[in-house]
Amino acid sequence: MAIRHIIYYPDPVLLKKADTVSGFNAELNNIFDDMVETMFAAKGVGLAAPQIGISMRIAVIDADIENRGSRILRLVNPVIIEAKGKISWREGCLSIPGLDLDVERRERVVMEALNENGDTIREEASGFLAIAIQHEIDHLDGTLILERVSALKRNFYRKKIMKHGLPLVMDEQDRGSQERTQLRG
Ligand code: CO
Repeated sequence: MAIRHIIYYPDPVLLKKADTVSGFNAELNNIFDDMVETMFAAKGVGLAAPQIGISMRIAVIDADIENRGSRILRLVNPVIIEAKGKISWREGCLSIPGLDLDVERRERVVMEALNENGDTIREEASGFLAIAIQHEIDHLDGTLILERVSALKRNFYRKKIMKHGLPLVMDEQDRGSQERTQLRG
């Protein structure tokens, strides 16, 4: 197992649709092990393969922040098959360090995916886990949290990142309140 280097915005690997996975083998298991280790090292609740430079539809999620490691989801080719409601949450991204944005998501989702053995898994999630699932699937489609806010905000932060680089230092008034557990994935 090894901690991988996390790729930062605007690297092109983060902005393209990742490839569907068809092979279930030792290499896939190695990628999963590295992703879990990298996610923990970065104190994230999720990590998608493009974030370590691998353009494949693979993600890991560990959304139980009180019992870290107790329930790690290893997802291959995840898809949302049902979504209900709306919820806004403060999200950060391991690939855009320093940036926190209020993102609107679906409140409840049903996700189907394969696990590392190729078995179908189904997850009915709400709240924090539902948001983490949507954040990671977004990564597999080349969509970052910057694309989930208004064009005005997007351009503002894009310019700031291009000018100052990452990690981004946010203004105090932009940081918002932290009354809820923040998601970083
Ligand atoms: Co992210």
